[in-house]
Amino acid sequence: MIPAGKEPAREEGDVNLTPRRASYVARHVDPAARAVLEADARYFFSQSLSTPCLDVLERSRGSRLITATGRELLDFHGNSVHQLGHGHPRVVAAVREALAELPFSPRRFTNRFAVALAARLCSAMGEGEWKLLLAPAGALAVSTAIKLARLVTGRHKILSFWGSFHGASLDAISVGGEALFRRGIGPLLPATEHLPPPTRGRCRFGCPDERHGNCLAYLEYVLEAEGDFAALIAEPYRWTTVELPPPGYWAAVREICDRHGVLLIFDEIPSCLGRTGRLFAHQRAGAVPDILVVGKGLGGGVFPLAAMLARAAFDRFPETALGHYTHEKSSPGCAAALAALEVIEEEDLCGRAHELGARALARLEELRTRLPMVSEVRGIGLHLGVELRGPDGAPAVDAAEAVLYTCLDRGLSFKVGGGNVLVLSPPLTIAEADLDRALAILEEALGEVTAGA
Ligand SMILES: Cc1ncc(COP(=O)(O)O)c(C=O)c1O
Repeated sequence: MIPAGKEPAREEGDVNLTPRRASYVARHVDPAARAVLEADARYFFSQSLSTPCLDVLERSRGSRLITATGRELLDFHGNSVHQLGHGHPRVVAAVREALAELPFSPRRFTNRFAVALAARLCSAMGEGEWKLLLAPAGALAVSTAIKLARLVTGRHKILSFWGSFHGASLDAISVGGEALFRRGIGPLLPATEHLPPPTRGRCRFGCPDERHGNCLAYLEYVLEAEGDFAALIAEPYRWTTVELPPPGYWAAVREICDRHGVLLIFDEIPSCLGRTGRLFAHQRAGAVPDILVVGKGLGGGVFPLAAMLARAAFDRFPETALGHYTHEKSSPGCAAALAALEVIEEEDLCGRAHELGARALARLEELRTRLPMVSEVRGIGLHLGVELRGPDGAPAVDAAEAVLYTCLDRGLSFKVGGGNVLVLSPPLTIAEADLDRALAILEEALGEVTAGA
């Protein structure tokens, strides 16, 4: 239960302290699995969004999670690591090979897996020369990006957006803008300033139209007033609530940053590698960053791996330890990433994300015309958001949770972002029949929750 006065913030995802979780456990988790859940709560620190957990997993394959009680769930969440689905055979084979040959690569050495991965990622950036550093988590790659931006510019301030998420470490929550991660933890990293986020269609900050002209003027004002910012860090679009800035927004931001000598860092940790219909999300945003951070699915869904790519001209600090993480050039991790990139290209997963995403979005749009509770549907590639609002226009937070649990009952798992946005993020390899089944489950659940409202 939620302790009195401790209602959790819901920006990042659905919460685990709801009575609906306990009711799910009572209905769907057998006694043996329940004992595992209890042991989890006994030994792991409780924390928002995980322990106490929903269920116990036994196996996963492709688009499916299989629980210890034997339930199958279509995984439309996957913590954003599963562009290739779970346990893609090419990735598993590549990791096995690396484990057999070179299970660990100590820092003073390099290895063929790391070098091949670096070459492939840097050339995928297209125009210009790029270099990179790898890291064993997205937040750590964000940290490296912030350090590099400070060194390159000789300035230390970082701008970012309220509502954004860039990882859970102390520096990442300082540039992030979500109360759930910041509240009660401070003091945070100094010299981190925040801007109004470019939410699509309903700017809360008085912009007269969707261009976010006032928000852009605010950015210009801050950069002029202070003049000593190293970088602006942002997600090309807000992952957790599928918020797409309007066309032209990032080109305008890019131009303002250039005029003020401020570097643009894009955080594509969850949105990279085909999800948006292009290999990198910024290729849909109309602006190329100076520094790009990718992660999550980079490890092929099996290995924690992230990367910070930056203009090769920034490679001017050989005396500084910019990254220096123990598993930085992990041979199995790099082998997994290489295999993932090969599969994305060979199976044309960008094309698939584009096609399946457009089909799913059209079906959701049709649903919106029939169900008044669905106030808006949005999508980019195979990443879709269904926003729920009540008759008074208020976010339908309880209904969103009810829809989630009704879907979990019927075999579909996804995440609720911002309290009232159902976020659908299936593997890009998903069978069309599974995608259709998931959308049918969602439609039924929305219909039932609407009828019961
Ligand atoms: C936009 C964004 N940035 C950074 C991170 C942090 O990545 P990691 O959990 O690998 O540290 C996440 C994770 O959810 C994310 O969504």
